[in-house]
Amino acid sequence: MRNSIRAAITGVAAYVPEYILSNAELEKMVDTTDEWIVSRTGIKERHILKGEGKGTSVMATKAVEELLAKTHTNPLDIDLIICATTTPDMQFPATANIVADKVGAKNAWGYDLNAACSGFLYALTTASKIIESGSANKVVVIGGDKMSSIIDYSDRSTCVIFGDGAGAVLLEPTQEDIGIIDTIMRSDGSGRIHLHQKAGGSAMPATHDTVTHKLHYVYQEGQAVFKFAVTNMADVAEQIVTRNQLTPETIAWLVPHQANKRIIDATARRIGIDDSKVMINIERYGNTTNGTIPICLWEWEKKLHKGDNIILAAFGGGFTWGAVYLKWAYNS
Ligand code: UT7
Repeated sequence: MRNSIRAAITGVAAYVPEYILSNAELEKMVDTTDEWIVSRTGIKERHILKGEGKGTSVMATKAVEELLAKTHTNPLDIDLIICATTTPDMQFPATANIVADKVGAKNAWGYDLNAACSGFLYALTTASKIIESGSANKVVVIGGDKMSSIIDYSDRSTCVIFGDGAGAVLLEPTQEDIGIIDTIMRSDGSGRIHLHQKAGGSAMPATHDTVTHKLHYVYQEGQAVFKFAVTNMADVAEQIVTRNQLTPETIAWLVPHQANKRIIDATARRIGIDDSKVMINIERYGNTTNGTIPICLWEWEKKLHKGDNIILAAFGGGFTWGAVYLKWAYNS
């Protein structure tokens, strides 16, 4: 028994929409090839949420419903819901509030957090501090995005990369030697020039002109982002490994944000761990932004054991980046 409280992940669930957009289909939409996409990114297919009026909350709600069912959690016992998303259903209210309503979490407060692809780690960090303070006992952290809502499907440099999906974890206090042990979160707003969405915010509200000029879509200078992502994600992963005296042998899993297979490989190489310990599913989902890390945890859940040392790492728009060191809390 430890004296201080830590936050532990006590359940994970996710949802990806049914429709699969394959590289073969993209070949018919833009000037690209399966060979280019696979060799430059590692992606073979991604899931897309179809249907009018359906936003990120549709996927997030399904993930949270599965999470509550499998952890036997009464929605009325949830204290807080944080939803990390870059594609909220609306500018306001928060998607967290919409999900809370849909799952019946009537006693929860909640908010959205936007840190682009690092949002899930930012939210996990924030939630863990709230649990450690003793002011919440059951916190749901969601990471999810409907990236297809802000992607230009005539722009081959972005439309091949992104997909839709959402995941959610339950965080609860523990005094055992498990849970979230260390976090390093970073940001550098000067990186915004390389990756952003120009219109739709208060600086450039929507007009006919912004729609005509396609300013509501993701703008990305891929090569510039790639350079920062490779360096920063690997740096922060190495830092957290070193300062917690972990070694390639004592790390059970690396869970990297799934933006590009080449960035994932570079991060794994930097901390010296074998490919077999790296969660990679980018080939089936592409980059689901806030969804990537919880979707990985959900897919690998059955292989995780209580006490496993796990490193989460992400990099995204902002720029934002970070790493989390946790000890897995349960056997499935
Ligand atoms: O998750 C949030 C953060 N985002 C990231 O981490 C993304 C980081 N960046 C990347 O993953 C890569 O930069 C991309 C996958 C976006 C692009 O790969 P790249 O190897 O950096 O390609 P590039 O942008 O340097 O483009 C190389 C060539 C260009 O043609 P030219 O100018 O050499 O003739 C592009 O026009 O590839 C061309 N190209 C394509 N060709 C076929 C760009 N997109 C495509 C495509 N199919 N889909």
